[in-house]
Order: sequence, then structure tokens, then C-alpha cells
Amino acid sequence: MSSTVYASMNQDKVVIVEVGPRDGLQNLSAFIETTHKISLIRMLAACGLREIQAGAFVSPRAIPQFRDMKTVTADIVTLPDVVFSALVPNLQGARDAVASGITKLIYFFSVSASHNMNNVRQTPEQSLQGLELIQKELTSDGLAECCVALATVFGCPFEGFPAVDKILHYIEKVVLLGVREITLCDTVGFGNPRQVEDIIYACQKNFPDVSFAVHFHNTRGLGMANALRAYEVGIRRFDAALGGLGGCPFAPGASGNVATEDIVFMFNSMGIQTGIVLEAILDVTRYLHELLPGVALSSAVYQAGLPKTSFL
Ligand code: COA
Ligand code: ZN
Repeated sequence: MSSTVYASMNQDKVVIVEVGPRDGLQNLSAFIETTHKISLIRMLAACGLREIQAGAFVSPRAIPQFRDMKTVTADIVTLPDVVFSALVPNLQGARDAVASGITKLIYFFSVSASHNMNNVRQTPEQSLQGLELIQKELTSDGLAECCVALATVFGCPFEGFPAVDKILHYIEKVVLLGVREITLCDTVGFGNPRQVEDIIYACQKNFPDVSFAVHFHNTRGLGMANALRAYEVGIRRFDAALGGLGGCPFAPGASGNVATEDIVFMFNSMGIQTGIVLEAILDVTRYLHELLPGVALSSAVYQAGLPKTSFL
């Protein structure tokens, strides 16, 4: 059956959140020039992506790659029709992000105390206090929205698999602080489709008013299987990174995200609308590849190319 037929059968839509400029670049040893970051983001915005994580307002000692965030943000935030978000670990980062024009803050912390300590040097409880400060100071006037990315939900390199009750506990705390969009992150690719289903069902059942998104790393080859299972149980927001780059520098063994090219190929082929033009994305992947000589891009679609349209 042709993909056109699938398209006419299926009116479903998904949102692909491009996290390449953040997750994809944070683990690179080489600094990407500011002008190149801006070009990359501008090219991504032209592909139909409607939400792009522009980077992170974090300590430049922790992640030197993002020392130019203010300059990058100032350039891109005026682009129309795209929501630019940024990762923030504390009030200082949130203040800087909002002052630079970011309207969607992604506050991140880990359900695993060891990973949170390694990553942002605080306990999850301290992270919750930081979230409260942000909600009081920055989001109550409606200038910015604060969402949460919950790390190591599907497994932690230090502590293994978190109990579902623990995940629900932190979601409850976050919801009590007024957050309504939460991204469940598989930081190091421990997740499997059955576990994804169980955790998402538990989250949806307990918090029906929350919009859940997912963030999968393909470290053990299950990124796309997990994404598909998440779709099947009702998730409609997916993080993905151009080229399949990515990984948390403070989580041993972390590697790339689900590749944007691959997840867009899957949904577009199934007739599930992404609004993203895959050929245009592949042009951006080529640009990224030129910027990163010697860095392997794991996207299967980038490596194999698209099937000829006459085959579809
Ligand atoms: N942006 C920029 N600088 C920041 C900052 C932020 N959001 N938060 C703190 N800093 C600076 C402080 O101003 C201070 O600078 P100074 O030494 O020049 O005075 C310095 O960092 C130390 O501040 P402190 O609050 O003690 O931070 P810390 O050393 O305990 O580190 C974090 C905490 C959260 C700032 C740091 O661990 C971090 O940025 N982690 C990000 C990790 C990450 O991005 N991981 C990948 C995503 S999964
Ligand atoms: Zn990630």
C-alpha cells in the first residue's frame, strides 16, 4: 500500500521537538561557532519543525558548548511560527533564558538522586525548590511557560530502574507546582517498549490533565521501538535530534537520541502528520555533517537515503 493511501487513512498528528541544537551539541568536544549554530537552527526552522530546543542556559564550566547561548538566542527568537525552548537547571539559567527571549523553559532534573547530583549538583528535592522559585518569579505573569524534563525515568546508569511510585512522586510534586507538560526521558537508553507502555499508562492514569512527551536515546537500539510504543499508547510529542547525535555528559555511557530523520520517516511513511519535509531535513543533516568532520551520524535514513518516490 502506498504511503499516500496511509496518509488519507490517518489524520493523526504528532509534534517532533528538535533537540539537536541542545542534546546533540552538548556532548561534542569541539565548540561549534555561534554563526554555525544560528545557521543550523534557522535551517531546521525552515523544514517545518515547530518546536526547537535551542540549547541550554547552564554553567559554561559544566557545558562549554553553550557559552554563547545569549547570542544564539537573540538571533533566532524572532523567527516566526517556531517555539524556541531552552533547558534550564536553576533560577539563574531561567532568568537568563527569559531575558534572552525564550518563552518556553524546560526545567530538568533526574528522578535518580545520583544522576541529579552528578548532572546539576543537587538533590531532586533541591531541584524541586528551584522549580518553585522559577514558577513564582518568572512564569506567574505569563511571560514564559515552564515545562519539566524528567531524566532517568526509564533507567539510571548509577541506580538502575526507578520504581514507578518514585516517578509518580516526582510528577506529583511538579504538577503541584503548576507544570502541565512533562517529558519522560530515557537518558541512557535502558528503556524497552513494554516498560515504556507500563510507565506511560501509570502516568496518564494518575495525571490525566498532564501533557506527556517522550525523549528516547537509542543507546541500545530500542529508541524507535520505544517511540512507536509510546505513540500507540497515546503520546503525541517526541523529542528527536538531528543526525541521532546526543547524550548527557554527566551520565556514563550515554549516546545519541532517536534521530529526527528516522522518526520523521517513520511517522510520515505511516501517514501520521509531522508537518516536516524530510528532504529538507536531510539537507540540514548534510550541513551538520560538514560542521562535524570525523563525527559519525547514526541516523539510518541519513545513511541509507530515502526510497525513490516511485517505490512508494
Ligand atoms: N548559567 C550560567 N552560569 C551558572 C548557572 C547557569 N544556569 N548556574 C550557576 N552558574 C554559575 C554561577 O554563577 C557560579 O559562577 P561563578 O563561580 O563564576 O560565581 C558557578 O556557576 C557556580 O554556581 P553554583 O550554583 O555553585 O553551581 P554548581 O557548580 O553547583 O553547578 C549547575 C550547578 C546546575 C549550574 C551545573 O551543574 C550545570 O550547569 N549543570 C548542567 C548540566 C547539563 O547541562 N547537563 C546536560 C543536560 S542532561
Ligand atoms: Zn537526552
